[in-house]
Amino acid sequence: MTQVRVIHHPVVQHKLTELRDHRTGPKRFRELLREITPLLLYEATQDLEVEDVSVSTPMGEARGRRLRGTIGLVPILRAGLGMVEGALQVFPEAQVWHLGIYRDERTLQPIAYYNRLPPQPTVTWCFILDPMLATGGSAVAAADILKRWGVPRIVFVGVIAAPEGIERFAQAHPEIPVYVAAVDSHLNPHGFIVPGLGDAGDRQFGTGMS
Ligand code: PRP
Repeated sequence: MTQVRVIHHPVVQHKLTELRDHRTGPKRFRELLREITPLLLYEATQDLEVEDVSVSTPMGEARGRRLRGTIGLVPILRAGLGMVEGALQVFPEAQVWHLGIYRDERTLQPIAYYNRLPPQPTVTWCFILDPMLATGGSAVAAADILKRWGVPRIVFVGVIAAPEGIERFAQAHPEIPVYVAAVDSHLNPHGFIVPGLGDAGDRQFGTGMS
């Protein structure tokens, strides 16, 4: 549990509240997800390594710092897609490696269906992007895949987590930090976070029943 960082920044909480609101339609929901992601990443990138460099300004030499390493953004389809654009604002040069993982509605087990990672890792840092950490199965599966790929440093960035999911993720990957805007009360019997925000994929893409 020590690896979980809840981001209490007022702007993050403001946007989270609008995301939760059932009256927020798909267009605004997508905007909010795009807007909140750079703010989450601002916190989630605080351990990135830098190297000292010097740079010539028009007036002389300045000492500066440059990020060391190569960044990979790993959205979990579908809902993680909505975080890609905002994350690319922070890391315009990042590689984006999509992972397709969905939950079986009956068993709640993660089913991986899309993965085009090449045999050798091409990044040193991976930021897993998924708004929801519910049972934790999808996030654990994504981290398993990235570890097998050989990525040295992995961080999970989400919006809302359930305690059950955090517990499961921390047991499977205790060294991977988890950054979220909220840890909610619990999961309902269908594996939905309460109070949560509903189904983040459906709310982005207008595919829900309600
Ligand atoms: C949702 C969500 C996460 C996952 C979280 O995706 O976007 O990926 O469930 O649940 P978990 O922590 O219990 O694994 P979903 O399975 O609905 O797939 P979709 O986004 O493709 O609809």
